[in-house]
Amino acid sequence: MPLRHRSVFKSEIKPLVDKYCTECHVQGGAGTEASGFLTDNYHNLMKGTRLGSVVVAGDPLSSSFYRLVAGKVAPSIRMPHGKEALSAIEISMIENWIAQGAENN
Ligand code: HEC
Repeated sequence: MPLRHRSVFKSEIKPLVDKYCTECHVQGGAGTEASGFLTDNYHNLMKGTRLGSVVVAGDPLSSSFYRLVAGKVAPSIRMPHGKEALSAIEISMIENWIAQGAENN
């Protein structure tokens, strides 16, 4: 079996979230106003929306954070909202990170 790259929150996932999400999911941003979801730090990312968590550690397919960026939802609610999707590599980094336990590593 090939060695699997170990995803790192601080150097890989956080920069992706900063690039694609935080402009709207910050205090006062459109995404946060609508959903309560803040992506400005690990703690808030794990807290999720007003309806609950969007990251289920170990289970990307149950994580709406992954499903929304991977396009496994209706196109109208894909994230980032109204913008170009993440690349396949970026999406698989997020998938790996969640599958590997979604740690603050
Ligand atoms: C241009 C603004 C914008 C960007 C960028 C953006 N969002 Fe959103 N987001 C929204 C809006 C508006 C909503 C509420 C409406 C909706 O659900 O479509 C929302 C809602 C959400 C929700 C809640 C969905 C639900 O069903 O409750 C999640 C989770 C989410 N966004 C994740 C992300 C992630 C992850 C990123 C980065 C990859 C991101 N968003 C980037 C605007 C944005």
